[in-house]
Amino acid sequence: MPDLYPIARRVLFSLDAERAHHVTLGGMKLAEQLRILAALTGGQAAQSKTTPVKLMGLEFPNRVGLAAGLDKSGAAVDAFGSIGCGHVEVGTVTPRPQPGNAAPRLFRLREHEAIINRMGFNNPGLEGMLMNLNKSARRFRGILGINIGKNFDTPNEQAIDDYLTCFEAVYPKADYVTANLSSPNTKGLRDLQSGETCRDLLEKLQQLRAKLSETHGGKQVPIVIKIAPDLDRDAISDLAAAFNEKRVDGVITTNTTIEREVVKGHALADEAGGLSGAPLREQSLKILEWLRADLDDEIPIIASGGMMDKADAEERLAAGAELVQVYTGLVYRGPKLIREMATLA
Ligand code: FNR
Repeated sequence: MPDLYPIARRVLFSLDAERAHHVTLGGMKLAEQLRILAALTGGQAAQSKTTPVKLMGLEFPNRVGLAAGLDKSGAAVDAFGSIGCGHVEVGTVTPRPQPGNAAPRLFRLREHEAIINRMGFNNPGLEGMLMNLNKSARRFRGILGINIGKNFDTPNEQAIDDYLTCFEAVYPKADYVTANLSSPNTKGLRDLQSGETCRDLLEKLQQLRAKLSETHGGKQVPIVIKIAPDLDRDAISDLAAAFNEKRVDGVITTNTTIEREVVKGHALADEAGGLSGAPLREQSLKILEWLRADLDDEIPIIASGGMMDKADAEERLAAGAELVQVYTGLVYRGPKLIREMATLA
């Protein structure tokens, strides 16, 4: 089938990045409601050629999913399912709604197939997201991940309470929950990525899960932690020791980077925020390799960061990841990327 995305991309890239984001989501939702999105994007064909993957007690229809942050409010789950995503991770959601940082806060570095964002967890809060999910995840047959965080004004000493509040609220709806400890756009958030804090967080989430499981028919929601690419070898070992000891259910490597080396000299390189897309590829792969070396074999890794084609995803699987997630690749390459990755063996 012809790939129409290059034409759509020309129009979208003529708009301000955040406006293009809203136009795209609106268009996808409309096309999904008209039941033409899967046919338009080849999502149907992708779904028919896949092999399911059993992981964390769940069955993923294929190995590719949508990374957090694109459907922050959980309003377009059916649409991302229609283009072939085997799992969709919505959020990051915080307990209370918050507007995020002031615009402009989203930038394309086209020459590098990259994005810098400092959105700052703009989201409708738990209540708003759950309302959206009730409307938007009706036909979706894949795995729903819900990515949780803390409000910008919650001090780090109370951050764990925000994660617990989110975990409890999303429990009935989520197939798995990701604790996001790695956004560079919420002050102090990444300081939570120490072995000590992760032990504490995991222990408390697991205690809460034991309680919630009793009132939810024995449902055990896997707990996943998402980490940053800006960690050194020792920090990864420290985290891996905590993950092994506390039996985390999965780890996502990685979030966006604050590094700018690869894009140095670009007019937008010094915009504050997290860099994603092609320039993140090597750094994200390196973190995956380090973590895989230290993490017990039974704990799965989900790769995210700089995958722009199927070969990039194959490289992550070869390095020990079980699943992949994309965001920036989708912006630059369109739904074809999902179609291709959905056939990963
Ligand atoms: C993100 N990402 C992100 N991650 C997360 O855990 N919670 C979030 O709210 C967001 N928000 C967000 C907004 C924007 C505009 C971008 C570009 C990214 C990070 C994202 O999920 C992913 O981990 C990284 O972008 C790396 O993958 P890609 O984009 O290189 O495929």
